[in-house]
Amino acid sequence: MSVNIVPPPMGLLAELTHRCPLQCPYCSNPLELEAAAAELTTAEWCSVLDQAAAIGVLQVHFSGGEPMARRDLPELVRHAADRGLYSNLITSGVLVNARRLDELQAAGLDHVQLSFQDTETASAERIGGMKGAQALKLEAARLIGESDMALTVNFVVHRQNLARVPDMVKLAEQLGAARVEIANTQYYGWGLLNRDALLPTRGQSDLANEQVEAARLQYKGRMVIDYVTADYHAALPKACMGGWARRFVNISPIGRVLPCHAAEILPGMTYPSIREHSLAEIWGHDPAFLKFRGTDWMPEPCRSCDRREIDWGGCRCQALLLTGDAANTDPACVLSPHHGVMQDVVAQAGTGSEGFRYRRPGGQRMMPGAPSGPGA
Ligand code: SF4
Ligand code: FES
Repeated sequence: MSVNIVPPPMGLLAELTHRCPLQCPYCSNPLELEAAAAELTTAEWCSVLDQAAAIGVLQVHFSGGEPMARRDLPELVRHAADRGLYSNLITSGVLVNARRLDELQAAGLDHVQLSFQDTETASAERIGGMKGAQALKLEAARLIGESDMALTVNFVVHRQNLARVPDMVKLAEQLGAARVEIANTQYYGWGLLNRDALLPTRGQSDLANEQVEAARLQYKGRMVIDYVTADYHAALPKACMGGWARRFVNISPIGRVLPCHAAEILPGMTYPSIREHSLAEIWGHDPAFLKFRGTDWMPEPCRSCDRREIDWGGCRCQALLLTGDAANTDPACVLSPHHGVMQDVVAQAGTGSEGFRYRRPGGQRMMPGAPSGPGA
């Protein structure tokens, strides 16, 4: 594929801030969280939205951290709407209230993706590291349900909540969601740090897969169930981000432009700042974006594989973390010479501590495991 004719990204992931009242141990943010003082200003984010619309981006996903921590969120949503961008708010819901939701709806917000850590309050609040969060989330869901905005309920699943997949689907329907997303934890950043406490056993993962299939039949025509399967238990990788620098562009709170949210872990790569370069220039020509775009970079077995333009060789970040080289085939692939590394980790699943290292600026706090064991 020629890099010169690459189409524009479909979606912009606007990580407005790393501030967040929750401390989820699977957070995909980097271990080094950015300080509020260094964040892009309102005017800088508006310029990003202008540029995104100009190059043909269709959707903007406002995320973080907790994007509601930015007081200027309604202004950014309005700016996105004025530029014709479909807007999605990815939120924990704990900072949502009726007034702020009204402001966002009036500004033109189209969709809200509301995350829950579990269906059981004690477990949910232990995972998120915030007492009182579940009631705030349930209230947020009620308010969104009364609005004109579409609601997706999201659960990140792992060994300590996977037993409740059927309850998750049921709760999403009760909350009036049009869609529920059940996404297995991705193991980089904080998730990798907590992998011993989070990785499900193969038995747990197989059962959850069956439960999702059963729920899809049961809820057919009533609610869409999106399921992000567990890479560590897979035989084939996913097209991470739809392929490196193909469908999405990620902008960090301080304006670093990235092909994926974990890209900063790749050694030897430097990423441009939106403060210094235009989005069009970066997307079309920046060396970091060209590095793994398309198929020219691929080693065997990807290079001659029929699936190379389906999964684009999987995830570069996972390849780095598990094989030491981002240019290797994702070890989630059964054809990868490194697939055994992942299987060895899976064989140990369920034997480690259940304590979490919570996501927090400047350090990690250990919290003992739940008293009643896996699935608690
Ligand atoms: Fe995908 Fe590469 Fe595996 Fe083929 S060999 S399935 S392209 S990761
Ligand atoms: Fe970076 Fe998959 S998370 S390529």
